[in-house]
This record gives sequence, structure tokens and C-alpha cells, in this order.
Amino acid sequence: MNPSTNLNKNKEHISDMFNDIAPSYDRLNHLLSFHIDKSWRKKLVASVKQCNPTRVLDVATGTGDVAFKILQQHKCSISAIDISAKMLEVAKRKATEADVNESIEFIEAEAAQLPFADESFDCITVAFGVRNFEDLEKGLTEMKRVLKPGGKLLILEFSKPKPPFSYLYALYSYTILPLAGLMFAKNAKAYVYLQRSAAIFPNREAMLDILSKCDYKKAKYTSLTFGMVCLYESFKEKP
Ligand SMILES: C[S@@+](CC[C@H](N)C(=O)[O-])C[C@H]1O[C@@H](n2cnc3c(N)ncnc32)[C@H](O)[C@@H]1O
Repeated sequence: MNPSTNLNKNKEHISDMFNDIAPSYDRLNHLLSFHIDKSWRKKLVASVKQCNPTRVLDVATGTGDVAFKILQQHKCSISAIDISAKMLEVAKRKATEADVNESIEFIEAEAAQLPFADESFDCITVAFGVRNFEDLEKGLTEMKRVLKPGGKLLILEFSKPKPPFSYLYALYSYTILPLAGLMFAKNAKAYVYLQRSAAIFPNREAMLDILSKCDYKKAKYTSLTFGMVCLYESFKEKP
């Protein structure tokens, strides 16, 4: 438990929470974001394509949407990891339906302890995953270990929207979000957690500082949808 925030980011707690909402995750995700989440992932995937990767790691893959989008647009192999067995179950089912099993492997694993050799991947993606890490810097450092020199790290994460949109967003996230979570996923707590974890997550410049501290180079961000989400891009230095 983080004493300054009272937010429990213990691995077992987080995986239990995502196991619980896995069956309704995709539907609710699109519904609650008015389908704008698709455009955020599209931005991420466009940036993946720019570095023309052969091997990609999708961390906190959840139900696999980022991984599938990458495979639709770019020929490569993907390793997709997550701590939630139930989210991975949904992702595996979708991989079979999309007939992409040959290009993707799913592994139950944690970001801070990746089951891969050093310098294995050209590109690593994490969409809406890093704010759940128990130890953000540990996760970022471990991802750098498995990234090839010159490889790219792409992070999509919630950030604090700018006024006047911030007032509307606050109203939405404190009221509609938990209510919809209760109605559709029968789990208001998970959607209160979503709001709180997003609210305390390092914002824009602070996140760039953390990436630099973890020795990522050329870190920058692009604000999306009035600053509600940021796409962070950074690289592992070449020797
Ligand atoms: C909000 S979902 C995002 C899923 C997917 N990337 C997407 O864009 O929809 C967050 C995911 O992160 C996973 N997760 C949380 N902490 C993790 C960790 N330390 N290591 C790996 N996965 C983690 C959760 O199990 C969950 O599936």
C-alpha cells in the first residue's frame, strides 16, 4: 500500500481486480471513452510502425488490443505479457478468432520481472499499464534491460486534462465512471481505482523526468484529447 495515496498497487490485488473485470473490459472500455480509446491506440501503433520492428513486447497487454492492431498493420512477432490470467484468456480467444496465433505469444508475467534475455526487443509498448505498476522505476528499468540499444519504448497513459476540459473530466470520472463500473462490470471499486490511479500518476513533465532518471533518451510526449491521455516516446541509448 502506498501510504501517501492509500492506493493498493500490490501485484495480487491488481491482478485480482483485472481478473474480475476481464469479461466486460473491452465493452466498457469503448463505452466509457466514447470509442476515443481506439484513436489513442491508433496513435501508438503508428509510432510503432515508424521504427519498423521485428520483435515487439507489449507489456500489460490486457485483452491484447494494442498487439492485434500492431499485427494488422505491421509484419513482426509479438510477445504479450500481463499479470491477469483472465485478461490473457480473453486475449488468447481473440487471437484465435483473428487467426494470429503464429505471430503472438502470451505470457503471464510481471513488468518488473520479465522472462526474456537482455536486448531482445526492437520496440516495447505499454498502454494504460504503467500507472498500475507497484514500482514504476523498477518496471521501466526492467523494460530497458530487454530493449535493444536504439530500441523504442512507447507508453500510453492517462494525464491531467487542461481547463476548461478538466472540470468536465473531473465530474465524469468521479460520478459516471464508478456508476458505469457498478452497472456494467458489477465492480465500482475498479473504476474508482481507475480514477484515483490516473489522478496521482506523474503528469507529462514529471513522467519525462522519471524516464530520464531511468536512463531513457530523447523522451517526449504528445498530448491527446485535451491532455486526457499522453503518448510518451523514449529510446534506449546506442553504445
Ligand atoms: C487498463 S488495462 C490495459 C490493457 C491494455 N494494454 C489496453 O490498452 O487495453 C491494465 C493492464 O495492466 C495489467 N498490469 C497491471 N500491473 C501489471 C504489472 N506490474 N505487470 C504486468 N501487467 C500489469 C493488468 O492486469 C491489466 O490487464
